[in-house]
Amino acid sequence: MASVASLREHLVEELNDLLNAEQQLIDALPMMAEKASQRELKAAFKNHLAQTRTHERRVSQALRQLGEQASGKTCEAMEGLLEEGQELMSSADPGALLDAMMITAAQKVEHYEIATYGTVRTYAQVLGERSVSKLLDQTLKEEKAADKKLTSIAEGAVNKKAAKELQEHPAGVTETAGELLEKGAEWVGSTVGGAMKTVKSVMPAGQASDRSSSGSGTKRGANGSRRSKSGGAQSSRNERSRGRSQSRKR
Ligand SMILES: [Fe+2]
Repeated sequence: MASVASLREHLVEELNDLLNAEQQLIDALPMMAEKASQRELKAAFKNHLAQTRTHERRVSQALRQLGEQASGKTCEAMEGLLEEGQELMSSADPGALLDAMMITAAQKVEHYEIATYGTVRTYAQVLGERSVSKLLDQTLKEEKAADKKLTSIAEGAVNKKAAKELQEHPAGVTETAGELLEKGAEWVGSTVGGAMKTVKSVMPAGQASDRSSSGSGTKRGANGSRRSKSGGAQSSRNERSRGRSQSRKR
């Protein structure tokens, strides 16, 4: 048997969903305001936090006017949207790019709310619940205005700054010191290894192998071949054991 039997019941379900969605947003918005770099965006998040508290009160009021109580239902859609927003927030450092990413997350939230408030407002209208419909319509207008505000902030400066941030740090320049050192070591190794190959190719065969197996001046050559791409540590061990066996022969 179906668990929802009427449009009225569906309306109540959706209002409970919205109530929890607004509560989740009340918890998430302070962090978004804190992480925002652009002053206007920070102010928009703070302003929307105050609005969201009003939205929560209005939904509670709508439920009371319908003679219903809050069910404590969790809005899974908002949970998912905010989780995704959290992932975005942890993937960039504060700046225009992070601001743009937070606007992405916030606009997804706004559009979810606009869709839900739009439908519940209309259900309340259809069911003849005029005062409930009016309450929900007020919030719907504020959600639409918040969405427009985010668009104007993004189009005004954030998106351009975020695009510029990327141009100022092209790929390769953003490498960490550790990555650069690692690349440097690789380059030195391959260069020394390459030089050894050249020395061996211009020297008579016996002389080249002598240099890699005996004498103080030859140790560098063995180290060089250890760094070479083809040999690695294994090649170095082979050269050392070859050196030992040649010494025994002598
Ligand atoms: Fe809201």
